[in-house]
Formats: sequence, structure tokens, C-alpha cells
Amino acid sequence: MVWSPEKTEVKSWNEWDTLRHVIVGRADDCHIPPEEPALDAKVPEDSDMRGQWGRRPQETIDRANELLDNFADQLRKRGVRVDRPVSIDHSQPVTTPDFHTDSQFGCMPPRDVLLTVGHEMLEATMSYRCRWFEYLNYRPLLKQYWEEDPKFRHEAAPKPRLTDEDYHPDYLSDKIGVEKRLKWAEEKFFVTTEEEPLFDAADVLRFGKDLVVQHGFTTNLKGIEWLRRHFPDHRVHTVNFPGDPYPIHIDATFTPLRPGLILNNPQRRLPEEQREMFHKNGWEIVDSAQPAHNTPPPLCYSSTWLSMNVLVLDPKTVCVEKSEVYQAEQMDKLGMEVVEVELRDAYAFGGGLHCCTADVYRDGDCEDYFP
Ligand code: NVA
Repeated sequence: MVWSPEKTEVKSWNEWDTLRHVIVGRADDCHIPPEEPALDAKVPEDSDMRGQWGRRPQETIDRANELLDNFADQLRKRGVRVDRPVSIDHSQPVTTPDFHTDSQFGCMPPRDVLLTVGHEMLEATMSYRCRWFEYLNYRPLLKQYWEEDPKFRHEAAPKPRLTDEDYHPDYLSDKIGVEKRLKWAEEKFFVTTEEEPLFDAADVLRFGKDLVVQHGFTTNLKGIEWLRRHFPDHRVHTVNFPGDPYPIHIDATFTPLRPGLILNNPQRRLPEEQREMFHKNGWEIVDSAQPAHNTPPPLCYSSTWLSMNVLVLDPKTVCVEKSEVYQAEQMDKLGMEVVEVELRDAYAFGGGLHCCTADVYRDGDCEDYFP
């Protein structure tokens, strides 16, 4: 069936087929949340984020919103339908029978919360207490899709309890040091325990019939098992990337560009035994280019590897952040047309071009790329 902008349809099976309809996040009311176990484990010891919390400065929110609005307009000019979430009040504390936190996170980035698989959008469990209610930012859109598309499946994974049992206390010192973190990551000892299923949507990459899921700080093995049982017609693969001391979210580590081609972060290489399914099926995994920056922007959770957090518009076209000149050059050499998008001043709000979007519709069907 041919996509039409007049008709809402939810469908996306992979990361690269022609993008027709997407959600772009908003920076409204974003907060730096107070300390909590999973979040602390992610913040590097020398980060300017340590010890700070509260609403982000208004001028940074305004600037990030300007960039996100411009990105949305750029996509619209290319014929993509763009929807925007409705921000809840993130200054509100979250109290459940199991935990309390004094503020929430924000309306960014949608990729962390929403996983689109075929005609379904699944709200992830999430693994930070401050992000427990983040799905509410997207409920007005999901309600609309549900009313307009009779095939749309709106699903939500079981909300986790997020008691102290969910986190390893060993991770709760701010003086662990990068060497120990690397060793722990290599041993697959992460901040989250196996108390209950946990996953963030941004740990999942969609390759048609196959879902590739990073096991790390934000997704545990029970979370991956939950996905396996929830998507019985898919093959679900667990991957690890030793070399990353803060393994959260796969999309600055492993970036499929089109059938047969994936970029891999050269500091976080996929282990040989986990490459087999790609190699056996003729896929090429190439090292991504170096980031153009030595440090992330101020008050940013992410690493400089947001350089490879690109949004593929179709198998020949990719959005790359404007200042990431090495990444753009590499895309060009790989035969991709590059669309430059300015976004660096919004990185602090939760990530790059892939992070700040969530797929609603891409052309194409569920293919088996790894028969
Ligand atoms: N682990 C990632 C998150 C980016 C989406 C990083 O490199 O910061």
C-alpha cells in the first residue's frame, strides 16, 4: 500500500526504509534529575553534571527547541510528516509505593521510550526512576494514532518497581574509576540487577525479523527475555560492546545504514562471536569515523560519539549533525547523500538525531535479512 499523508498509519520494521512519518522530541521543561542509582552510574566521574540538579537554564531550553523545530521543518520540507509530543510538568516529583524522586527528566528523547515494531508502538519499561512517567508526553499522539489507525497496536511493557533491589550498590560510588568500569562492563556486571525486566527502547535496533538488543546499564537480560516473549515472530539477539564504560543505548555504538551495512564505534567493537550472523549473511560492519569534537557540550549525558547517532531517511540518504564533518565525509564515501542538520546545542537534552526522533511510518515490510 502507498503511504498517504492524509491517512495515519503506524508501521516501521527497520532503521533504514524510506521514512514518511516521525515524532521529533521537545526540550520544554527538561530537568537535570536528582541523584538516583542508575543515573549516577551513567555520569562520568569528571562530568560537569555531577552534583547538579534542577530545571535546565531557560536559554538552553529555548536554543534546543529552536534546533528541534528547525529539524522538524527540514524533515517536513522533504515530505516527512512530523508530530511533536506534549510536555508534562517535569518538575513534579514521582512517588510510588516503592520509590520517590524529586523531579523528572523531560520530553526528550522519544527514541528511549517508544519502540515501533511493525504496526505496534511499545512503551519501554525504562530503568531510571526519573523517567518512570515519561510515556505520558507521548500519550496524546498515541491516543490519536489508536483512534485513526485501526491496525495500530498501542502496547506498554510492565511498569517496573525500581526498588533498591534493581541496582547493584557497588556502582553507587562516584570514585569507581574508568578502569574498573571497563572491567565490570567486560564481565557484564552492570548497575542494574536481574530483579525484574528492564529495558529502554533505545537499546533495540530493528532489522526486520531480527531485533538486536544491547545488554547494559539500561536493559537487563530479563528485559531482553521479555522482548523475546512479547515478539514471538521475531528473533531477538543480545549484544554487548566491551570498551564502553557506560553502556546505555545502542545508537551511538552500532548504526545500520542500509541492508548489508552497519557502522560500529571503533572503541566499542562488537565481539567476534556476535558478528557471526552478520558475516554469514554478507553484512559489512565498518568502523565509524571519529567524532569532530573532543568533549560533549556542557551538561550533557552523552559521549562525543553522538557523531554516529544519525537518522537514516532512506537507504541512500542520511541526516548527520552539521558539525560532524568526519562522519559526513565517511557517509559520502559510503555512497550516502548527507543532509546536514544543526543539533549540537540540543545534545544535552538526551542525544542526537536518532535519539530525538521515534519512527511512526517507514515504507517496506518485515524482511528476513539473516535467513
Ligand atoms: N551510550 C551512548 C548514548 C548515546 C545515545 C553514549 O555514547 O553516550
